[in-house]
Amino acid sequence: MKIGVPRETVPGEKRVAVTPEVASKLIKSGFAIAVESGAGDAAGFSDGDYRSAGGTIAPSAAAALGDADAVLKVRRPAFNATLGKNEVELLKPNALLIGLLDPRGDQDGLRTIAQRGVTAASMELVPRITRAQMMDALSSQSTVAGYKAVLLAANAIQRFFPMLMTAAGTIRPARVLVIGAGVAGLQAIATARRLGAVVEAFDTRPVVKEQVQSLGAQFVALDVAEHDAQDSGGYAKELAAEHIAREKQLIHDHASKADAVITTALVPGRRAPILISADTVRAMRPGSAIVDLAAEQGGNCELSQPGKTVVEHGVSILAPLDLPSQMAYDASAMYARNVAALLMHFAPKGTIALDFSDEITKAVVIAAQGEMRLAPPPGAAAPPAQAAPNRTAGAKV
Ligand code: NAI
Repeated sequence: MKIGVPRETVPGEKRVAVTPEVASKLIKSGFAIAVESGAGDAAGFSDGDYRSAGGTIAPSAAAALGDADAVLKVRRPAFNATLGKNEVELLKPNALLIGLLDPRGDQDGLRTIAQRGVTAASMELVPRITRAQMMDALSSQSTVAGYKAVLLAANAIQRFFPMLMTAAGTIRPARVLVIGAGVAGLQAIATARRLGAVVEAFDTRPVVKEQVQSLGAQFVALDVAEHDAQDSGGYAKELAAEHIAREKQLIHDHASKADAVITTALVPGRRAPILISADTVRAMRPGSAIVDLAAEQGGNCELSQPGKTVVEHGVSILAPLDLPSQMAYDASAMYARNVAALLMHFAPKGTIALDFSDEITKAVVIAAQGEMRLAPPPGAAAPPAQAAPNRTAGAKV
């Protein structure tokens, strides 16, 4: 069975879906791999690395994908300006396509993929169950984002993170507030602690208190009954307006004493809750920073501008959308292992055999045999579906 790996064409995307390490493992399992020349360059993997791993280098996307039985990608196939056509047109009908296919995004684009006859599996839809953890790309990429967010915050403020005792006197450690203690939030807490900051963290789900504390951070508690904060599956629920108002006040009080705030609050399937108002930004110290990871879902800070950094009332507000891409080497290394695990799930013996009674296959396959299989989002005009909360710690069995 032949695997094709193209260069990503979405502007700014530096990750690659298969690293030489994963290519080598797949080849040992009996697959052949063709990688488009330069596909790994932006992530730090050369054509020579793929050759050494046993792969072949294809001169173009068309050559890499034309006869591939499985195509592994980071982003959904898009219009390729070099080729003057959509990458979907390069896929062999009946090929298997695996990637972050943005299943709640442009539905016409998804229909084009389905109509091509391609079997498409969306990494965003990997269910939150223990045996799928190796495939959980949203968690691996959120881990990268949580780490990187802290480095961006450390870079943006004009203070040390650790306490320093020097001949020039003692420097007090920076204070960091992390809002939302899911996958990204817990990694942000751990990273800020490793850098020596004093960390406070806040989440509406009381169950994360212990995890926050075990990382050496203070848990800021909002008095909300557990059933108001999370559903029976452990997912965060949208809070009632009265709770949100109390929460915003609590965050206001803590953010105004912080040097950096990292926000990661997400309710699956909803717009991100706005938890930091313009007033709270005004109350923060000049020179402090907010890194808003929820920018893709509209942002947790009222003044965030997705994809941009702005300075308001002396506070830097960063709302990056591409943090995994900013750490493309390790983000690719993790993503490639996730993708390979899903491929092996579909083709344990080297040929693809989809079993739709399997929970993972049923959840991730969004197109097969010319038809879309994506379940409609819950509720009428529901916004993009999102990842499960705390996927690593709260996995179901
Ligand atoms: P997650 O679902 O694991 O964690 C979200 C947490 O927010 C949960 O623990 C939940 O209980 C909490 N939460 C929900 N409502 C809250 C509220 N009102 N107040 C406080 N906490 C609340 O999600 P994950 O994987 O950690 O992702 C977090 C965010 O980071 C998402 O918005 C995701 O899209 C984003 N992200 C951004 C990237 C970027 O480059 N900007 C890259 C990867 C992820």
